Amino acid sequence: MKILYASSEAQPFAASGGLADVAGSLPKALVEEGQECIVVMPYYVNTIKDYQKEKIEYVDNFYVSVGWRTQYCGVFTTELNGVTYYFLDNEYYFKRDFGLYSYYDDGERYAFFSRAVMELVQKLDLHPDIINANDWQCALIPVYYNLYYRNQYNMQNIHTVFTIHNIQYQGRYGLETMEEILGIPKHYTSIMEYDHDVNFMKAAIEVSEKVTTVSPTYASEIMDPWFAHGLDRILRTKAYKTCGFLNGIDQDMYNPEKDTDIPANFSLRNKSGKKTCKEKLLKEVGLNNDNDAPVIAMVSRLVEHKGFDLVKYVFDKIIELNCKVIILGSGEPQYEDFFKEMHYRYPDKVSFTCGYIPALAKKIYAGADMFLMPSKSEPCGLAQMISLRYGTIPVVRATGGLKDSIRDYGEPDDSGLGFTFQTYDAFDMLEAVRRGTELYWNDKRKWGALVTRAMKADFSWNRSAQLYIGLYKELCGDK
Ligand code: GLC
Repeated sequence: MKILYASSEAQPFAASGGLADVAGSLPKALVEEGQECIVVMPYYVNTIKDYQKEKIEYVDNFYVSVGWRTQYCGVFTTELNGVTYYFLDNEYYFKRDFGLYSYYDDGERYAFFSRAVMELVQKLDLHPDIINANDWQCALIPVYYNLYYRNQYNMQNIHTVFTIHNIQYQGRYGLETMEEILGIPKHYTSIMEYDHDVNFMKAAIEVSEKVTTVSPTYASEIMDPWFAHGLDRILRTKAYKTCGFLNGIDQDMYNPEKDTDIPANFSLRNKSGKKTCKEKLLKEVGLNNDNDAPVIAMVSRLVEHKGFDLVKYVFDKIIELNCKVIILGSGEPQYEDFFKEMHYRYPDKVSFTCGYIPALAKKIYAGADMFLMPSKSEPCGLAQMISLRYGTIPVVRATGGLKDSIRDYGEPDDSGLGFTFQTYDAFDMLEAVRRGTELYWNDKRKWGALVTRAMKADFSWNRSAQLYIGLYKELCGDK
């Protein structure tokens, strides 16, 4: 099968979050399983590194309709791990200074990109069997395919899958944008409109042959208004074509035995390097290792749905458990201010680094003892899987992919990998943290066994890549 995977970001070229990890690792896994895979993404000239550009070649250019206008689109390509990448270039849209998103014209930028993906397929005669479009930025790809391309010469029999990584971001704009910017006439309003707006994600859910999301639990949660940010009504009518596959992680990229970003390597057989990682980490973030207290870490965007309200509410009580807390992240000022204040209140117990620093994140995964993710909702979550790989024990709320990946330590069959809590309640979270610190302090042997079990857990793509292939085959027959 030939699969075209469209994403607004992909490792190692441009990343703002978990989507880039998935777009960087799932295609590679599909190729390892014998499939052909193409990744298409925007050419973010300011983000892609010079050494990467040296290996990227110009292929072609064409013009793309954006409403009543036409815009230039250059095509560049490279190959990495057996995956072919196409980068779609337009400096007006993608040469921006302040990150990938949050510009006033994001809707137009990704409408252009989506239309350009269809033009690319046509102009370069790509003939994919499957197009898997991801999140709202690519949501118009299946829409444009269905409205304008599917009956054109050489464009028949492409099957469409739409994957939701986060339902909160939908691409909602005023109805007036439909003709003016998206180039979609009024008689298609029933596809595009939702709650009196144009809604990119809703339109993709409407027209795609399959809708997937990034964990089985999230697939059922998004049928519920508490999680769906309004889209539960449409999703319930499309439940027959919706399912969830748990993401994996790239086991080569996150490998404590070989990782060059961490101060000491370690493995299941010899874990001593983890101790060094902890010591060096504490030093780097300005804390001392006086009594080998457990280090609880959080690496996250500081936004509400990650559960920071709970952390704020019982922060002093967490500190009373005789632990140290290391936080890395940036986001809403109320949380940034709070952690700054906590650092001043507990200078020898709390460290806060404001920002998104991948190299420090790796050192935290490797050097911490526990990793806290009390998310209100979590479509999949990758940090808990990365932590496990580095022998750091997750403390998570049982929601979405966190529920599907982390069983509780208290399970009678010894399958637990971390400490979990159910209700979105600060004291339930505190109790999970308390169980973790108590085990750490009181039973070093059992703690060690838990770390071993964590490091043995397999969250590689092997299983999930098979599930995607199964789904693709269901659509296009056994190829
Ligand atoms: C989004 C979700 C996260 C998921 C990631 C990759 O960032 O919020 O839970 O792991 O996408 O699918």
